[in-house]
Amino acid sequence: MVKAVVCGASGGIGQPLSLLLKLSPLVDDLALYDVVGSPGVATDLSHISTKATVKGYLPADDGLKLALTGADVVVIPAGIPRKPGMTRDDLFNINAGIVRDLVEGVALYCPKAFVAVISNPVNSTVPIAAEVLKKHGVFDPAKLFGVTTLDTVRSETFTASVLGKSDPAVFKIPVVGGHSGDTIVPLLSLASPPVSIDGAKRDELIKRIQFGGDEVVQAKEGKGSATLSMAHAGFRFVDSILKAVSGQTGIVENTYVYLPGVAGGDAIKAATGLDFFAAPVELGPSGAVKVENILTKASDYEKGLLQVAFKGLATNITKGVDFIVAPA
Ligand code: NAD
Ligand code: LMR
Repeated sequence: MVKAVVCGASGGIGQPLSLLLKLSPLVDDLALYDVVGSPGVATDLSHISTKATVKGYLPADDGLKLALTGADVVVIPAGIPRKPGMTRDDLFNINAGIVRDLVEGVALYCPKAFVAVISNPVNSTVPIAAEVLKKHGVFDPAKLFGVTTLDTVRSETFTASVLGKSDPAVFKIPVVGGHSGDTIVPLLSLASPPVSIDGAKRDELIKRIQFGGDEVVQAKEGKGSATLSMAHAGFRFVDSILKAVSGQTGIVENTYVYLPGVAGGDAIKAATGLDFFAAPVELGPSGAVKVENILTKASDYEKGLLQVAFKGLATNITKGVDFIVAPA
């Protein structure tokens, strides 16, 4: 029996993500938590003739406790999205506290659950989640993930578009670093099958992957950021976790993890000086099995991009950690 919880389930991401989870044969019980609207979303989804039971919870009457108790996987797309002109870091002041409080609930009511953080700024909200779990003595680095799958999805789509290929899903592209602007580093030189895109075309493609989020924010004209593509990406990530839990092998996703706690992470930490980093991670029944240290194989051009990413990440990670360990 697999219980999945969506925190922020009434939102632009939360609703379509909850729909996809309701359609999944790997989910038996779906709990939808939000500060508004979740009972309505749950009732709506509950009429779909798939096996998962669905229930909505609000904060009143111990709603968070009831939603989280017994959870196997908790996905967190709660918090405010960007408007044009904002950076993801501009969301920190509001979203940091939201993620802290929800992960506090995880620590208390389902400390063994997988936690997939979507709320921005991911570069900082994942360190916040880690510190909250550490504070409660229940941190398992193999089970905490920052969801960077949308960067992977964009890299597949935009690369296929540049090459005039009709099926983006054939590409496997390591996208490393973090989840904001130039902390997102697609390693096109390590794509499989190999791709040959050079010069200005390569530079434009990399910029488009790094700043794909801005494209959506601008197109939505103040009405939020990516929701539908994110729901797809979030589902792809949770589905990969659940497949790995069910015993499927060879599942690898790019995701933002705590390096010292995952096999292979120490080498990346030594090379980057960072505690958190997104890279291809092999998933198994207990979560992250191994993080691939592919940075040494990057091209010289990509190594230049990585240096920029390391600086931005260091600042974002410190800000997240300090929010819990040294609050202002
Ligand atoms: P939204 O405003 O449409 O939905 C957010 C939901 O969170 C709302 O329903 C709101 O009521 C709920 N919420 C607020 N505080 C809460 C709390 N304390 N507990 C539970 N729920 C709470 O926003 P959205 O478009 O769905 O985006 C949500 C977040 O995801 C944003 O921070 C956005 O930047 C981020 N995001 C991340 C990625 C990524 O790749 N990781 C991609 C897209 C968006
Ligand atoms: C994205 O990459 O689409 C999300 O992080 C949302 C945003 O603010 O761009």
